[in-house]
Amino acid sequence: MYRSKTCGELRLADKGKTVTLAGWVQKSRKLGGMTFIDLRDRYGITQLVIDGAADPQLVEIAESLGREFVIQATGEVLERQSKNPKIPTGEIEIKVQKINILNKSVTPPFTIEENSDGGEDLRAKYRYLDLRRPPLQRALALRHRLAQEIRTYLDGEGFMEIETPYLIKSTPEGARDFVVPSRMNPGQFYALPQSPQTFKQLLMVAGYDRYFQIVRCFRDEDLRADRQPEFTQIDCEMAFVEQEDVLKTFEGMMRAMFKNAVGVDIPNPLPRMSWYDAMDNYGSDKPDIRFGMKIHEITKQVQGVGFSVFDSAEYVGAINAEGCAEYTRKQLDELTEWVKRPQVGAKGLVYIKLNPDGSIKSSVDKFYTPEQLKAIADALEAKTGDLILVLCGPKRKTQTQLGVLRIEMGNRLGLRDPHVFAPLWIVDFPLLEWSEEDGRFYAMHHPFTAPKPEHEKWFYSDKKEDLERVCANAYDFVLNGSELGGGSIRIHNADMQKRMFEVLGIGPEEAEYKFGFIIHAFQYGAPPHGGLAFGFDRVCALFGGQETIRDYIAFPKNNQGRDVMIDSPSKIDQVQMDELFLASTVKE
Ligand code: AMO
Repeated sequence: MYRSKTCGELRLADKGKTVTLAGWVQKSRKLGGMTFIDLRDRYGITQLVIDGAADPQLVEIAESLGREFVIQATGEVLERQSKNPKIPTGEIEIKVQKINILNKSVTPPFTIEENSDGGEDLRAKYRYLDLRRPPLQRALALRHRLAQEIRTYLDGEGFMEIETPYLIKSTPEGARDFVVPSRMNPGQFYALPQSPQTFKQLLMVAGYDRYFQIVRCFRDEDLRADRQPEFTQIDCEMAFVEQEDVLKTFEGMMRAMFKNAVGVDIPNPLPRMSWYDAMDNYGSDKPDIRFGMKIHEITKQVQGVGFSVFDSAEYVGAINAEGCAEYTRKQLDELTEWVKRPQVGAKGLVYIKLNPDGSIKSSVDKFYTPEQLKAIADALEAKTGDLILVLCGPKRKTQTQLGVLRIEMGNRLGLRDPHVFAPLWIVDFPLLEWSEEDGRFYAMHHPFTAPKPEHEKWFYSDKKEDLERVCANAYDFVLNGSELGGGSIRIHNADMQKRMFEVLGIGPEEAEYKFGFIIHAFQYGAPPHGGLAFGFDRVCALFGGQETIRDYIAFPKNNQGRDVMIDSPSKIDQVQMDELFLASTVKE
C-alpha cells in the first residue's frame, strides 16, 4: 500500500494518527532548522515537517528533495502552530518519520501551483505538468461530474447510449471534413463525423426511440476560444416526439445538471425567444440576456432631415450604454475605431451623450436639433448620464454589429458575471438562408430539418420570398451569449426530403451519392423523430465560469489546430504515403 490517506483528506480530527501519504513535492523550504514540504496530489496539499534534530538520514533525504519529486511519507498528524485558512488541510501538518523517494524529477519548466508562471505555449507543450495544477484538475473534475449527471438523467428517462462509427462518409453539418485515406480501398477516403447526425436518425428508423451518446465530433473549421477541431457532443435523438417533447426532456437534463453539479436553480420553464426577436432586440441568435441594453430601431425617427448617411440606410439602430456619458472624446474615437475593425465591420459610429448637466451632445449635432435628439433618447428610455450608440446599414448586418457592440459594452460595464446563468431556448429559426454569393439557398441547420407544419405551404412554393419566410422546426439552447446546443424535428417523409434537396439545389444524383443510404432507409417506415446535440466542452466551460473550452479538455489543440505536446500534425514517411496511394504537392 503506497498511501493510507490522500493529501486533501486530513483534518484536526485526525490529530495523533499515523498516516502515509504519497504525492509530488510542490515546494520545499527550510525555516529555523525545520524543513517544510508542500505535498500535492489531486485531492489537495498537505504540509510535511521534518525536524532538523531528527534522524540525520531522514534530514538528508528531506533536504535533497526537488520540485515534483514523487515521494511517500509516513508520520504523525499534528495540529499546526500557524494555521493556513486558505486550504482545507490548513489546520494540520505531518511530523514525518520516514520518507521514500519513489521517483526523482528534473526541474519543471514552470511552477505547478494554482497560478503558474509559465506562458500558454510552454504549458501546452508540457500539458501533463499543467494538468497537475488545481484549476485544471477542478475543470476536469467538473467535466466528469457533468458526464455522470447526463448519464444518470438520460438513463432514468429511458435513453440508450449507443456508439456510432468514426470512419464514415461526409455528414452535412456545413464545416469541412477531416478525411482518412483507406489503404484497402485505393484512392478512397473516409470522413470523420462532424456529428453522428445520419446515424442517430438511422437508429430511429431501427426502432431505438431514445438514443444518446457522449461522442467526439470532428470539424475542420477556423478555431476560436469556443471551438476545437475535435470536440464532444451530448448527442440525442427521440422518436414519436414533437418539438415540445424534446425541449421538455432536455430542459430537464439541464436543470438536473445545474442543480446537481453547481447547485444552481434555473427557471422552470425556461424562457423561449423567436430567432426574429433575438435578432431584432439583441442582434444575435445567441443573446446574452443577463443584461438589457436592447437594440432599438430608430430608422423612421432619424430619416428625412438631410443626414444622407441615415437617409440612405435600410436600417438605423441604437443601444443605450447606461452611465457612459462620461466617455471622453478619446474614448469615443477609440470605440469608433473598434466598431470599424473587420471583426465588427461597421462603417462608423454615431453617439448621443446625455450629459450630467442636462445638455445633449452628439456627433450629428449639425443635422438634429436638441429636441430631435431628446426624442431619440426617449425612445431608448435613456436618462441623464447615458450614452446612445447608433449604427446604420443593411438591417441584419447592422443588428449583428450592434449585437457585438452590445456585448462589448456589457463587458466594459461588468454586466456579464460568469457566475450568473441565464439560459433560454431560441426557436422559430428560418429554415433556409439565401447566399447572394452562390445564388442558392443553404439549410440554416442541416438538410434533414423539417419546416414548421404551418409553414409547409411556403416550403412547396417556388417563390424566393415564400421560401425565405419558412420557419424551421428547430431550436437552440443558449446560455450567457453562447450557443450550447441545437437540434430540430426531422423530415421523416421521403417526398418532403426530396423537396428539401430540390430547394437546396442538390440534384437526385448528388442526393443519391451523398445521402442514398438515409433516403433508402426512410422508405422502410421512418417514425416521426427529432433531437438535438449539446456542445459538451462548452457546457463544461460555461458551468465553470469560463468562455474558453481548452481547459476543460485534457489534451486540446492550439489555435493552429496543433497538439504541441505530441507535435501533431506531422509528416508521415514515404512508405506510409505509398501504402495509402498518396502523393504530396507541398514543395519542400
Ligand atoms: P450543431 O452543429 O449545432 O448541431 O452542433 C451542436 C453543438 O456542438 C457545439 N459545437 C462545437 N463545440 C466545440 N467546437 C466546435 N468546433 C463545435 N462545433 C459545434 C456547439 C453546438 O451547439 N447534428 C446537429 C445536432 C442535431 O440536429 O441534433 C449538430 O451537430 O455547442
